[in-house]
Amino acid sequence: MKRKVIFDCDPGHDDAIALLMAFASTRLDILAVTVTGGNQTLAKTLNNAKRVLSFAGVECLIAAGCDKPLFRELEVAPEVHGDSGLDGPVLPESNLPVDDRHAVEVMRDLLDQATEPITLVATGPLTNVGLLLSTYPHVKSKIDLIAIMGGSVVGGNWTPGAEFNIMVDPEAAHIVFHSGIHIAMAGLDVTHRAMVTKQDTERIRSLNKKVPVMVAELLDFFALFHHTMGFDATPLHDPVTIAYLIDPSIITTKEYYVDIDVDGEFTLGATVADQLGSMNQPANTTVMLDIDREKFVDMIVDLVNTYE
Ligand code: RIB
Ligand code: CA
Repeated sequence: MKRKVIFDCDPGHDDAIALLMAFASTRLDILAVTVTGGNQTLAKTLNNAKRVLSFAGVECLIAAGCDKPLFRELEVAPEVHGDSGLDGPVLPESNLPVDDRHAVEVMRDLLDQATEPITLVATGPLTNVGLLLSTYPHVKSKIDLIAIMGGSVVGGNWTPGAEFNIMVDPEAAHIVFHSGIHIAMAGLDVTHRAMVTKQDTERIRSLNKKVPVMVAELLDFFALFHHTMGFDATPLHDPVTIAYLIDPSIITTKEYYVDIDVDGEFTLGATVADQLGSMNQPANTTVMLDIDREKFVDMIVDLVNTYE
């Protein structure tokens, strides 16, 4: 039985690779791709989702969501993903149709119509998901899991204490982590072990087909920022979320109660994982902490190789 998924994202180089993995997997049935502002403005992330999916020959329901966080101004990351949000490969413009409904309405309608549980995947700021759960709380009964790339047990990558996706919209993240729906969290603890090397990139390029070469070019560009930050390989954040859904055996996890700091002076947007059990709350999150890097890269290669 395939896992039914609504994939919310902010493409973004790593989102793009995660999308390609998700559509190539025989274990996932992607019902819709919904897009939020994050790595770049909504107009750019939407255009990027369309261009990547078109380039790969994927047709699916696409909807645009929120162009800014629930209560804050949008922060984008051109230094990481470029001005387009997907700098590097040459991707033709796409005429993939975008649904007229807002992404949250598409999510609500799919959940209302669902006869079996749906997993929400979110690899960008949690604005669309937070707005869905606060506007239409009745849909919670149809959601079996929310799998996210975001947060960390220790440290941040946008501030010393916060990871980008959570930091951009802490209030949306607070809604999600207090929703009562179980969360699988691919935070920096695991994604900074999901390192893709230059050799891995060349292995993908050597598949010598249109889409694998494009993926290698995404990795080429994504590596540039991380090299300036002192990394000798590239943390491939969003694909870890998909890898967990496809084969959780390659990932080491622990169950923690996780909450979100929404007003800290230095820790705003931090995902606080109660490793001590001192908050006396039941665990709401499966926190990913380590990954079998070789098996992760093999999975990416195998899935990307299914495309022409
Ligand atoms: O912190 C990394 C996350 O922020 C990734 O999802 C990346 O695509 C950006 O959205
Ligand atoms: Ca992302």
